[in-house]
Amino acid sequence: MKEFGFLAPGKVIFGAGTTKRISEVLTEGDGVILLLTDKGIEGTGLAADVAGLIEASGHRVFTFADVPAEPYLEDVDRVYTALTGSKVVQIVALGGGSVMDTAKLLSIQFSTGESVNSLRENPPSRRGVPMVMIPTTAGTGSESTPNSIIALKKEQTKTAVISPWFLPDAVILDPENTRSLPAKLTAAGGLDTLCHLMECYVSAKRNPHSDMMAERGMELAFSSLTRAFHHGDDMEARGNMLLASYYGGACIASSGTMAIHGMSYPLGGKFRVPHGVSNAILLEPVFRYISSSIEDLLPRIADCAGLGINGGGKVMDLLKSMVQELGIPSTMSVFGVAEADLNYMVESAYGNRRLMDNTPMDLSKEDIRRIYMEVL
Ligand SMILES: NC(=O)c1ccc[n+]([C@@H]2O[C@H](COP(=O)([O-])OP(=O)(O)OC[C@H]3O[C@@H](n4cnc5c(N)ncnc54)[C@H](O)[C@@H]3O)[C@@H](O)[C@H]2O)c1
Ligand SMILES: [Fe+2]
Repeated sequence: MKEFGFLAPGKVIFGAGTTKRISEVLTEGDGVILLLTDKGIEGTGLAADVAGLIEASGHRVFTFADVPAEPYLEDVDRVYTALTGSKVVQIVALGGGSVMDTAKLLSIQFSTGESVNSLRENPPSRRGVPMVMIPTTAGTGSESTPNSIIALKKEQTKTAVISPWFLPDAVILDPENTRSLPAKLTAAGGLDTLCHLMECYVSAKRNPHSDMMAERGMELAFSSLTRAFHHGDDMEARGNMLLASYYGGACIASSGTMAIHGMSYPLGGKFRVPHGVSNAILLEPVFRYISSSIEDLLPRIADCAGLGINGGGKVMDLLKSMVQELGIPSTMSVFGVAEADLNYMVESAYGNRRLMDNTPMDLSKEDIRRIYMEVL
Protein backbone atom coordinates (compact mmCIF):
# COMPACT_ATOMS: atom_id res chain seq x y z
CA MET A 1 0.00 0.00 0.00
CA LYS A 2 1.19 3.52 -0.75
CA GLU A 3 0.21 6.87 0.61
CA PHE A 4 -0.48 9.39 -2.11
CA GLY A 5 -2.20 12.66 -2.77
CA PHE A 6 -2.92 14.81 -5.74
CA LEU A 7 -3.46 18.43 -6.55
CA ALA A 8 -5.41 19.90 -9.43
CA PRO A 9 -6.39 23.31 -10.75
CA GLY A 10 -9.87 24.52 -9.81
CA LYS A 11 -11.28 24.17 -13.32
CA VAL A 12 -9.99 23.04 -16.71
CA ILE A 13 -11.55 24.08 -20.02
CA PHE A 14 -10.28 21.94 -22.90
CA GLY A 15 -10.85 22.16 -26.63
CA ALA A 16 -9.98 24.06 -29.80
CA GLY A 17 -11.24 27.63 -29.65
CA THR A 18 -12.03 27.57 -25.92
CA THR A 19 -9.91 30.68 -25.19
CA LYS A 20 -13.03 32.56 -26.23
CA ARG A 21 -14.63 31.33 -23.00
CA ILE A 22 -12.13 33.26 -20.86
CA SER A 23 -14.83 35.57 -19.46
CA GLU A 24 -16.17 32.56 -17.49
CA VAL A 25 -13.02 32.45 -15.36
CA LEU A 26 -12.29 36.14 -14.84
CA THR A 27 -12.44 37.74 -11.39
CA GLU A 28 -14.42 40.89 -10.63
CA GLY A 29 -12.62 43.45 -8.49
CA ASP A 30 -11.35 46.97 -8.11
CA GLY A 31 -8.17 46.78 -10.17
CA VAL A 32 -6.66 45.40 -13.35
CA ILE A 33 -6.21 41.95 -14.77
CA LEU A 34 -2.54 41.38 -15.50
CA LEU A 35 -1.95 39.56 -18.77
CA LEU A 36 1.52 38.09 -18.32
CA THR A 37 3.30 36.86 -21.42
CA ASP A 38 6.57 37.09 -23.35
CA LYS A 39 7.86 38.79 -26.47
CA GLY A 40 7.71 35.65 -28.62
CA ILE A 41 4.05 35.10 -27.85
CA GLU A 42 3.29 38.79 -28.26
CA GLY A 43 4.80 38.52 -31.75
CA THR A 44 2.30 35.81 -32.75
CA GLY A 45 -0.68 38.09 -32.01
CA LEU A 46 -2.02 35.70 -29.35
CA ALA A 47 -1.53 38.22 -26.52
CA ALA A 48 -3.47 40.96 -28.33
CA ASP A 49 -6.31 38.50 -29.01
CA VAL A 50 -6.55 37.49 -25.34
CA ALA A 51 -6.30 41.12 -24.15
CA GLY A 52 -9.15 41.93 -26.56
CA LEU A 53 -11.29 39.12 -25.15
CA ILE A 54 -10.67 40.30 -21.56
CA GLU A 55 -11.58 43.88 -22.44
CA ALA A 56 -14.63 42.81 -24.40
CA SER A 57 -15.95 41.12 -21.26
CA GLY A 58 -15.83 44.43 -19.40
CA HIS A 59 -12.56 44.06 -17.46
CA ARG A 60 -9.54 46.33 -17.39
CA VAL A 61 -6.41 44.58 -18.65
CA PHE A 62 -2.71 45.44 -18.47
CA THR A 63 -0.33 43.45 -20.66
CA PHE A 64 3.23 42.77 -19.49
CA ALA A 65 5.22 40.95 -22.19
CA ASP A 66 8.74 41.08 -20.79
CA VAL A 67 9.08 37.70 -19.07
CA PRO A 68 12.44 36.22 -20.17
CA ALA A 69 12.76 32.58 -21.25
CA GLU A 70 13.84 30.31 -18.37
CA PRO A 71 14.11 33.21 -15.92
CA TYR A 72 16.78 33.71 -13.30
CA LEU A 73 15.64 34.41 -9.76
CA GLU A 74 16.62 38.08 -10.21
CA ASP A 75 14.48 38.31 -13.36
CA VAL A 76 11.33 37.48 -11.44
CA ASP A 77 12.11 40.08 -8.77
CA ARG A 78 12.69 42.61 -11.57
CA VAL A 79 9.29 41.85 -13.10
CA TYR A 80 7.69 42.24 -9.66
CA THR A 81 9.42 45.59 -9.13
CA ALA A 82 8.34 46.80 -12.57
CA LEU A 83 4.74 45.97 -11.69
CA THR A 84 4.71 47.30 -8.11
CA GLY A 85 1.94 49.82 -7.74
CA SER A 86 -0.41 48.13 -10.22
CA LYS A 87 -3.51 46.95 -8.44
CA VAL A 88 -3.68 43.41 -9.80
CA VAL A 89 -6.86 41.43 -9.06
CA GLN A 90 -5.99 38.42 -11.20
CA ILE A 91 -3.11 37.13 -13.34
CA VAL A 92 -3.77 35.58 -16.71
CA ALA A 93 -0.56 33.73 -17.67
CA LEU A 94 -0.40 33.20 -21.42
CA GLY A 95 2.74 31.30 -22.32
CA GLY A 96 5.01 28.36 -21.69
CA GLY A 97 6.65 27.23 -18.47
CA SER A 98 8.67 30.43 -18.16
CA VAL A 99 5.59 32.66 -18.06
CA MET A 100 3.51 30.31 -15.90
CA ASP A 101 6.33 29.78 -13.36
CA THR A 102 6.85 33.55 -13.12
CA ALA A 103 3.10 34.05 -12.62
CA LYS A 104 3.12 31.64 -9.68
CA LEU A 105 5.75 33.65 -7.81
CA LEU A 106 4.21 37.00 -8.73
CA SER A 107 0.82 35.81 -7.49
CA ILE A 108 2.30 35.47 -4.00
CA GLN A 109 4.56 38.54 -4.29
CA PHE A 110 1.55 40.74 -5.07
CA SER A 111 -0.03 39.76 -1.76
CA THR A 112 3.02 39.57 0.53
CA GLY A 113 5.67 41.73 -1.15
CA GLU A 114 8.32 39.05 -0.51
CA SER A 115 11.41 38.53 -2.65
CA VAL A 116 11.86 35.25 -4.51
CA ASN A 117 14.77 34.42 -2.21
CA SER A 118 12.53 34.71 0.79
CA LEU A 119 9.94 32.49 -0.94
CA ARG A 120 12.69 29.94 -1.58
CA GLU A 121 13.42 29.82 2.12
CA ASN A 122 9.78 29.89 3.23
CA PRO A 123 7.52 28.53 0.48
CA PRO A 124 4.14 30.24 0.44
CA SER A 125 1.60 28.89 2.88
CA ARG A 126 -1.35 30.99 1.71
CA ARG A 127 -3.05 31.65 -1.59
CA GLY A 128 -1.96 34.70 -3.56
CA VAL A 129 -3.69 36.65 -6.31
CA PRO A 130 -5.98 34.31 -8.36
CA MET A 131 -4.48 32.89 -11.54
CA VAL A 132 -5.72 31.65 -14.90
CA MET A 133 -3.17 29.73 -16.99
CA ILE A 134 -3.32 29.39 -20.75
CA PRO A 135 -0.37 27.25 -21.88
CA THR A 136 1.00 28.02 -25.34
CA THR A 137 3.55 25.18 -25.31
CA ALA A 138 3.01 21.46 -24.77
CA GLY A 139 4.90 21.39 -22.60
CA THR A 140 6.01 21.74 -19.13
CA GLY A 141 2.56 21.07 -17.67
CA SER A 142 3.32 23.89 -15.25
CA GLU A 143 -0.45 24.62 -15.20
CA SER A 144 -0.97 21.44 -13.16
CA THR A 145 2.16 21.38 -10.97
CA PRO A 146 2.89 22.99 -7.59
CA ASN A 147 6.40 23.92 -8.85
CA SER A 148 8.00 27.12 -10.02
CA ILE A 149 11.41 26.50 -11.58
CA ILE A 150 13.95 29.30 -11.53
CA ALA A 151 17.57 29.49 -12.65
CA LEU A 152 20.30 30.39 -10.15
CA LYS A 153 23.22 32.45 -11.49
CA LYS A 154 25.83 31.79 -8.84
CA GLU A 155 25.05 28.10 -8.40
CA GLN A 156 24.74 27.67 -12.20
CA THR A 157 21.76 25.37 -11.87
CA LYS A 158 18.01 25.53 -11.37
CA THR A 159 15.85 25.11 -8.34
CA ALA A 160 12.16 24.66 -7.58
CA VAL A 161 9.99 26.68 -5.23
CA ILE A 162 7.12 24.34 -4.35
CA SER A 163 3.73 25.19 -2.90
CA PRO A 164 0.19 23.84 -3.30
CA TRP A 165 -0.85 27.51 -3.67
CA PHE A 166 0.85 27.60 -7.07
CA LEU A 167 -1.98 25.62 -8.64
CA PRO A 168 -4.10 28.02 -10.71
CA ASP A 169 -7.82 28.61 -10.23
CA ALA A 170 -8.50 27.87 -13.87
CA VAL A 171 -6.71 26.49 -16.93
CA ILE A 172 -7.63 26.83 -20.59
CA LEU A 173 -6.14 24.08 -22.75
CA ASP A 174 -6.78 25.38 -26.25
CA PRO A 175 -4.73 23.71 -29.01
CA GLU A 176 -5.27 26.78 -31.20
CA ASN A 177 -2.74 28.53 -28.92
CA THR A 178 -0.04 26.05 -29.92
CA ARG A 179 -0.68 26.28 -33.68
CA SER A 180 2.05 28.93 -34.04
CA LEU A 181 4.60 26.94 -32.02
CA PRO A 182 7.60 26.28 -34.31
CA ALA A 183 8.55 22.63 -34.91
CA LYS A 184 11.72 22.99 -32.84
CA LEU A 185 9.77 24.12 -29.76
CA THR A 186 7.08 21.49 -30.41
CA ALA A 187 9.81 18.86 -30.26
CA ALA A 188 11.55 20.17 -27.14
CA GLY A 189 8.33 20.76 -25.21
CA GLY A 190 6.82 17.45 -26.28
CA LEU A 191 9.89 15.55 -25.12
CA ASP A 192 9.82 17.41 -21.79
CA THR A 193 6.23 16.12 -21.45
CA LEU A 194 7.31 12.58 -22.30
CA CYS A 195 10.07 12.80 -19.66
CA HIS A 196 7.57 13.96 -17.02
CA LEU A 197 5.26 11.04 -17.81
CA MET A 198 7.94 8.36 -18.10
CA GLU A 199 10.00 9.55 -15.14
CA CYS A 200 6.97 9.78 -12.86
CA TYR A 201 5.90 6.30 -14.03
CA VAL A 202 9.12 4.68 -12.79
CA SER A 203 9.78 7.09 -9.90
CA ALA A 204 10.15 5.94 -6.32
CA LYS A 205 7.13 8.19 -5.66
CA ARG A 206 4.91 6.46 -8.25
CA ASN A 207 1.44 5.58 -7.03
CA PRO A 208 -1.92 4.44 -8.44
CA HIS A 209 -3.01 8.00 -9.21
CA SER A 210 0.15 9.05 -11.02
CA ASP A 211 0.28 5.68 -12.85
CA MET A 212 -3.17 6.29 -14.30
CA MET A 213 -2.27 9.77 -15.55
CA ALA A 214 1.14 8.64 -16.83
CA GLU A 215 -0.26 5.70 -18.82
CA ARG A 216 -2.87 7.82 -20.58
CA GLY A 217 -0.39 10.65 -21.07
CA MET A 218 2.20 8.30 -22.60
CA GLU A 219 -0.41 6.90 -25.02
CA LEU A 220 -1.25 10.43 -26.14
CA ALA A 221 2.34 11.63 -26.40
CA PHE A 222 3.71 8.55 -28.18
CA SER A 223 0.89 8.69 -30.72
CA SER A 224 0.78 12.45 -31.31
CA LEU A 225 4.18 14.08 -30.75
CA THR A 226 5.74 13.33 -34.14
CA ARG A 227 2.38 14.15 -35.81
CA ALA A 228 2.28 17.58 -34.13
CA PHE A 229 5.95 18.10 -35.06
CA HIS A 230 5.46 17.33 -38.76
CA HIS A 231 1.96 18.84 -39.05
CA GLY A 232 1.68 21.85 -36.79
CA ASP A 233 -1.87 22.54 -38.02
CA ASP A 234 -3.17 19.14 -36.90
CA MET A 235 -5.40 20.34 -34.08
CA GLU A 236 -6.19 16.81 -32.91
CA ALA A 237 -2.47 16.05 -32.42
CA ARG A 238 -1.93 19.49 -30.82
CA GLY A 239 -4.87 18.87 -28.46
CA ASN A 240 -3.55 15.43 -27.53
CA MET A 241 -0.16 16.95 -26.73
CA LEU A 242 -1.72 19.68 -24.55
CA LEU A 243 -3.62 17.00 -22.62
CA ALA A 244 -0.49 14.85 -22.33
CA SER A 245 1.38 17.88 -21.02
CA TYR A 246 -1.36 18.56 -18.47
CA TYR A 247 -1.24 14.89 -17.36
CA GLY A 248 2.55 15.14 -17.11
CA GLY A 249 2.14 18.08 -14.72
CA ALA A 250 -0.48 16.15 -12.74
CA CYS A 251 2.03 13.28 -12.45
CA ILE A 252 4.68 15.66 -11.12
CA ALA A 253 2.14 16.91 -8.55
CA SER A 254 1.48 13.37 -7.34
CA SER A 255 4.72 11.48 -8.07
CA GLY A 256 8.00 13.14 -9.13
CA THR A 257 10.62 13.20 -11.86
CA MET A 258 14.01 11.56 -11.31
CA ALA A 259 17.53 11.39 -12.78
CA ILE A 260 16.73 12.86 -16.22
CA HIS A 261 15.49 16.13 -14.72
CA GLY A 262 18.13 16.00 -11.97
CA MET A 263 20.96 15.67 -14.50
CA SER A 264 19.35 18.17 -16.85
CA TYR A 265 19.36 21.10 -14.38
CA PRO A 266 23.13 21.85 -14.55
CA LEU A 267 22.83 21.90 -18.35
CA GLY A 268 20.06 24.47 -18.16
CA GLY A 269 21.58 26.47 -15.32
CA LYS A 270 25.16 26.72 -16.61
CA PHE A 271 24.98 26.18 -20.36
CA ARG A 272 21.46 27.56 -20.90
CA VAL A 273 20.45 24.48 -22.88
CA PRO A 274 16.64 24.80 -23.31
CA HIS A 275 14.89 22.65 -20.70
CA GLY A 276 13.15 20.29 -23.13
CA VAL A 277 16.34 19.80 -25.14
CA SER A 278 18.54 18.92 -22.15
CA ASN A 279 15.95 16.39 -20.98
CA ALA A 280 15.60 14.94 -24.47
CA ILE A 281 19.37 14.40 -24.77
CA LEU A 282 19.32 12.42 -21.49
CA LEU A 283 16.02 10.56 -22.03
CA GLU A 284 17.19 7.38 -23.77
CA PRO A 285 20.64 7.13 -22.08
CA VAL A 286 19.15 7.36 -18.58
CA PHE A 287 16.36 4.88 -19.32
CA ARG A 288 18.84 2.44 -20.88
CA TYR A 289 21.17 2.78 -17.87
CA ILE A 290 18.44 2.05 -15.32
CA SER A 291 16.56 -0.51 -17.45
CA SER A 292 17.42 -3.45 -15.19
CA SER A 293 15.59 -1.73 -12.32
CA ILE A 294 12.35 -1.19 -14.30
CA GLU A 295 11.94 -4.55 -16.02
CA ASP A 296 8.48 -4.98 -14.48
CA LEU A 297 7.32 -1.64 -15.91
CA LEU A 298 8.75 -1.83 -19.44
CA PRO A 299 5.92 -4.02 -20.86
CA ARG A 300 3.29 -1.43 -19.83
CA ILE A 301 5.44 1.43 -21.17
CA ALA A 302 5.83 -0.50 -24.44
CA ASP A 303 2.09 -1.02 -24.64
CA CYS A 304 1.44 2.72 -24.15
CA ALA A 305 4.04 3.41 -26.86
CA GLY A 306 2.16 1.23 -29.35
CA LEU A 307 4.79 -1.54 -29.26
CA GLY A 308 2.52 -4.09 -27.60
CA ILE A 309 2.87 -5.67 -24.19
CA ASN A 310 5.78 -7.85 -25.40
CA GLY A 311 7.74 -4.90 -26.77
CA GLY A 312 9.58 -3.94 -23.57
CA GLY A 313 12.95 -4.62 -25.22
CA LYS A 314 12.21 -2.14 -28.00
CA VAL A 315 11.37 0.89 -25.83
CA MET A 316 14.91 2.32 -25.74
CA ASP A 317 15.33 2.05 -29.51
CA LEU A 318 12.01 3.81 -30.01
CA LEU A 319 13.06 6.65 -27.68
CA LYS A 320 16.35 7.02 -29.55
CA SER A 321 14.72 7.15 -32.96
CA MET A 322 12.00 9.58 -31.79
CA VAL A 323 14.55 12.01 -30.37
CA GLN A 324 16.48 11.77 -33.65
CA GLU A 325 13.39 12.25 -35.82
CA LEU A 326 12.51 15.34 -33.77
CA GLY A 327 15.87 16.90 -34.64
CA ILE A 328 17.31 17.05 -31.10
CA PRO A 329 21.15 17.06 -30.97
CA SER A 330 22.51 13.86 -29.48
CA THR A 331 25.46 15.44 -27.68
CA MET A 332 26.04 18.15 -25.10
CA SER A 333 29.21 19.40 -26.78
CA VAL A 334 27.00 21.22 -29.30
CA PHE A 335 26.14 23.50 -26.38
CA GLY A 336 29.75 24.05 -25.32
CA VAL A 337 29.99 21.33 -22.67
CA ALA A 338 33.53 19.91 -22.38
CA GLU A 339 34.92 16.99 -20.38
CA ALA A 340 36.43 19.47 -17.94
CA ASP A 341 32.87 20.56 -16.99
CA LEU A 342 31.82 17.09 -15.90
CA ASN A 343 33.13 17.37 -12.32
CA TYR A 344 30.89 20.33 -11.65
CA MET A 345 27.92 18.72 -13.42
CA VAL A 346 28.26 15.40 -11.59
CA GLU A 347 28.49 17.13 -8.19
CA SER A 348 25.54 19.36 -9.00
CA ALA A 349 23.29 16.55 -10.28
CA TYR A 350 24.30 14.17 -7.47
CA GLY A 351 23.55 16.89 -4.93
CA ASN A 352 19.97 17.31 -6.22
CA ARG A 353 18.59 14.69 -3.84
CA ARG A 354 14.99 15.93 -4.31
CA LEU A 355 15.06 14.41 -7.80
CA MET A 356 17.90 11.87 -7.73
CA ASP A 357 16.34 10.01 -4.78
CA ASN A 358 13.29 9.27 -6.96
CA THR A 359 15.41 7.23 -9.39
CA PRO A 360 14.45 3.54 -9.13
CA MET A 361 18.15 2.58 -9.02
CA ASP A 362 20.79 4.25 -6.83
CA LEU A 363 23.07 6.27 -9.10
CA SER A 364 26.56 6.92 -7.72
CA LYS A 365 28.67 9.85 -8.89
CA GLU A 366 30.49 7.39 -11.14
CA ASP A 367 27.19 6.24 -12.69
CA ILE A 368 26.19 9.85 -13.35
CA ARG A 369 29.56 10.57 -14.95
CA ARG A 370 29.22 7.51 -17.20
CA ILE A 371 25.82 8.65 -18.46
CA TYR A 372 27.09 12.20 -19.11
CA MET A 373 30.13 10.75 -20.93
CA GLU A 374 27.80 8.84 -23.26
CA VAL A 375 26.22 12.08 -24.50
CA LEU A 376 29.27 14.34 -24.30
N1 LIG B 1 6.68 24.35 -13.26
C1 LIG B 1 6.97 23.18 -13.70
O1 LIG B 1 6.44 22.21 -13.20
C2 LIG B 1 7.94 23.00 -14.82
C3 LIG B 1 8.14 21.74 -15.39
C4 LIG B 1 9.07 21.63 -16.43
C5 LIG B 1 9.77 22.76 -16.86
N2 LIG B 1 9.57 23.97 -16.27
C6 LIG B 1 10.30 25.18 -16.68
O2 LIG B 1 9.63 25.80 -17.77
C7 LIG B 1 10.56 26.53 -18.55
C8 LIG B 1 10.47 26.15 -20.01
O3 LIG B 1 9.16 26.37 -20.49
P1 LIG B 1 8.74 26.03 -22.01
O4 LIG B 1 9.50 24.86 -22.47
O5 LIG B 1 7.27 25.99 -22.04
O6 LIG B 1 9.32 27.25 -22.84
P2 LIG B 1 9.31 28.83 -22.59
O7 LIG B 1 8.13 29.23 -21.79
O8 LIG B 1 10.66 29.19 -22.07
O9 LIG B 1 9.14 29.38 -24.07
C9 LIG B 1 10.14 29.12 -25.05
C10 LIG B 1 9.95 30.03 -26.25
O10 LIG B 1 8.77 29.66 -26.94
C11 LIG B 1 8.06 30.79 -27.35
N3 LIG B 1 6.65 30.40 -27.48
C12 LIG B 1 5.85 29.92 -26.50
N4 LIG B 1 4.65 29.61 -27.00
C13 LIG B 1 4.67 29.92 -28.32
C14 LIG B 1 3.71 29.83 -29.37
N5 LIG B 1 2.49 29.30 -29.19
N6 LIG B 1 4.08 30.25 -30.60
C15 LIG B 1 5.33 30.74 -30.83
N7 LIG B 1 6.27 30.83 -29.88
C16 LIG B 1 5.94 30.43 -28.63
C17 LIG B 1 8.31 31.80 -26.26
O11 LIG B 1 8.14 33.11 -26.75
C18 LIG B 1 9.77 31.51 -25.89
O12 LIG B 1 10.63 32.26 -26.69
C19 LIG B 1 11.93 26.22 -17.98
O13 LIG B 1 12.35 27.27 -17.12
C20 LIG B 1 11.70 24.94 -17.20
O14 LIG B 1 12.66 24.74 -16.19
C21 LIG B 1 8.65 24.10 -15.29
FE1 LIG C 1 10.40 19.42 -17.20
